[in-house]
Amino acid sequence: MGIRPEYADLAARAGKYAAGREFAIKSLLGRGVNGAVFSTSAPTALKVFRYEQFYLRELGCYKRLQEFGVEAVAGHEVPALLGEDDALLVIEMTIVKPPYVLDFAAAYLDEPPSWPQDVLDDWRLERMQVFSSEQWQTVERIMKELEINYGIFLTDVHPGNVAFG
Ligand SMILES: Nc1ncnc2c1ncn2[C@@H]1O[C@H](COP(=O)(O)OP(=O)(O)O)[C@@H](O)[C@H]1O
Ligand SMILES: [Mg+2]
Repeated sequence: MGIRPEYADLAARAGKYAAGREFAIKSLLGRGVNGAVFSTSAPTALKVFRYEQFYLRELGCYKRLQEFGVEAVAGHEVPALLGEDDALLVIEMTIVKPPYVLDFAAAYLDEPPSWPQDVLDDWRLERMQVFSSEQWQTVERIMKELEINYGIFLTDVHPGNVAFG
């Protein structure tokens, strides 16, 4: 079985980013809707995006977090921005271990999503179900702190993005 062309493109862009910086791509840290995340020998994490729109969203959030020197939110480590490439759609960040919060590709900056109240209510009911009730309290704290302190509104909360130890 060959490598899927789509994945080959993501890996190639990660390779190009790494080649300019004297480190190597090591392994796949994770995959999601937005692309793939590779570990490097630096060691760092490279998130390679399929679409510029989501790259820019996430980059905006990481820049905001960097401005404020944020290392963790409610005890959940946040990756630190280390670099980016607007042409390759690559964000380089530190590798984190649970408990962490990451993935701002679907987050809103400064403006909350303009969803009607019933959509918001449904979203909340649905999102709660993928966490234990204790975890959900922490998720809500994380979301509130991100909103109030940094103007970041998370929408894509699930255990892959908000990990518990
Ligand atoms: N900086 C990082 N450190 C450790 N693991 C990471 C890091 N970034 C991503 N991952 C892993 O890769 C997965 C996919 O990354 P994510 O940013 O959520 O991509 P997507 O936007 O495609 O969902 C995450 O759920 C996590 O397991
Ligand atoms: Mg994700």
